[in-house]
Amino acid sequence: MTKKVALVTGGTGGIGTQICRTLSTAGYIVVANWLKGIDDGPAWEAKQKADGYDNILIAEGDVSDYDQAVAMVKEAVEKAGAPIDILVNNAGITRDKMFRKMEKSQWDAVINSNLSSIFNVTKQVLDGMVERGWGRIVNISSVNGQKGQAGQANYSAAKAGMHGFTMAIAQEVASKGVTVNTISPGYIGTAMVMSIKEEIRNQIVAQIPVGRLGKPEEIAWTVQFLADEKSAFITGANISVNGGLHMG
Ligand code: CAA
Repeated sequence: MTKKVALVTGGTGGIGTQICRTLSTAGYIVVANWLKGIDDGPAWEAKQKADGYDNILIAEGDVSDYDQAVAMVKEAVEKAGAPIDILVNNAGITRDKMFRKMEKSQWDAVINSNLSSIFNVTKQVLDGMVERGWGRIVNISSVNGQKGQAGQANYSAAKAGMHGFTMAIAQEVASKGVTVNTISPGYIGTAMVMSIKEEIRNQIVAQIPVGRLGKPEEIAWTVQFLADEKSAFITGANISVNGGLHMG
C-alpha cells in the first residue's frame, strides 16, 4: 500500500513538531510547514533526520497569506511526490492583551494566522480529497475557543471560529470519505504557554483537574487517532484534550 501524505501547518512549533514525529512513526510521509523568520526549517529538518525521523519533509510559507499558502502546498506535494491525504491545521499565534488595550493589529494578526489560514490551506487540498474519496482534516483549536479566556478576545474568537468551520465543512464532505474534526487542546507545556507570566500560569495550572500541563504527545496521539482509517465515522467532532479544565 502506498504511504499516505500528511501536511502539518506550523509543523516546526511546539505541538507541531510532535505531531510530525508521531505521524512519521505511524508510517505517513509528513510535510511540516514552516515560516521564515520564526523558525529555521532546514535546521529543524536535519534535527528530525538525526533523531531517526526519515519521513519528514518541509515546505515554507506564511499560511495567513493566501498566495503563500498556495505556493507552500505546491511545494509540499512536489516534495512528497503525492497529494495531501491528511491536513493538520495547526499553525497559530497568540497576541494576548485585555480587550480594552488590544490594538487592531493584534486582532488582525491572530484572526489571519489562526482562522483565515485554515481557509487558505484547506482550499488547496479539499477538492483532491473529495475526488480521491478519502481525506482527513484535523483543526487544532483550543480550550479557550470553548470557554473564552480573559486577555484572549482575538484568540478565543479565532479558535471558536475554527470549530464552526469544522462543522460546516464536515457536513459538506461527509459523504465523500473525508472527515473534518477539531481537537481543542488545553494548556500544553510548549513555549507558547511557558511565555505566560509565571504567576498567572501557576494560577491556570491550579485550575486543571489532572494537576499539570498537557504534553505535546497527548495532542499528537489524538491527531493520529483521528487520521486513522478506523476513525471514518468520527466527523464534525470537537475533541477536548485539556486535563479536565473545561468539560462539556
Ligand atoms: N479575568 C478577569 N480579569 C482579569 C483576569 C481574568 N482572568 N486576569 C487579569 N484580569 C484583570 C486584572 O485584575 C487587572 O484589572 P485592573 O486593571 O482593574 O486592576 C487587569 O485585568 C490587568 O490588565 P492588564 O492589561 O494590566 O494585564 P496584564 O498586562 O497584567 O496581563 C495578559 C494581561 C497578558 C492578558 C495576562 O492577563 C495573561 O497573560 N493572561 C493569560 C492569558 C492566557 O491564558 N493566555 C493563554 C496563552 S497559551 C494559549 O493560548 C494556548 C492555548 O490554546 C491554551
